[in-house]
Amino acid sequence: MESGPIFLVMNGRFVLAMLMAAVTLVGCTYDDLDTLGSPVDCDTFDVSFGSDILPLVMDNCQGCHSGGSPAAGLALEEHGDIASSAEAMLDRMDRDPGDPLLMPQSGKLDSCSIARFNTWIQNGKPNN
Ligand code: HEC
Repeated sequence: MESGPIFLVMNGRFVLAMLMAAVTLVGCTYDDLDTLGSPVDCDTFDVSFGSDILPLVMDNCQGCHSGGSPAAGLALEEHGDIASSAEAMLDRMDRDPGDPLLMPQSGKLDSCSIARFNTWIQNGKPNN
């Protein structure tokens, strides 16, 4: 009969430990979402070629895919180039880190940039 109260105390500590673990896990989840650019933070409603898509391609792709002899013969300089290769570009950007076909080769772009590129395709690749 002595074990009743002891069990309650241990049970209370167990519940407390679970609560703390839950709080810690939730905290980590939010940290990860902040780092990756969660769908909540990511504005995919207002995507423009001129202010979003072209700068992304200039910063991450044109180093190799432009000029006189672009990598893989693929120049990604103007709206027309980018629109006609958009699905292939998205396929290369949206691969697992470490996939040898991932573009850019230096490392995967943040999830919000990829989501916004996808939105631009879904919107009909406007030159806006
Ligand atoms: C450091 C140089 C470099 C950068 C930066 C780079 N690429 Fe590439 N890309 C290559 C090379 C080299 C190949 C050919 C080898 C291959 O297919 O993986 C290639 C191939 C491709 C292909 C396949 C072309 C074909 O016809 O088969 C696509 C699509 C592509 N890149 C898209 C992109 C996109 C989108 C970006 C920017 C997000 C990008 N690349 C950034 C070097 C680069």
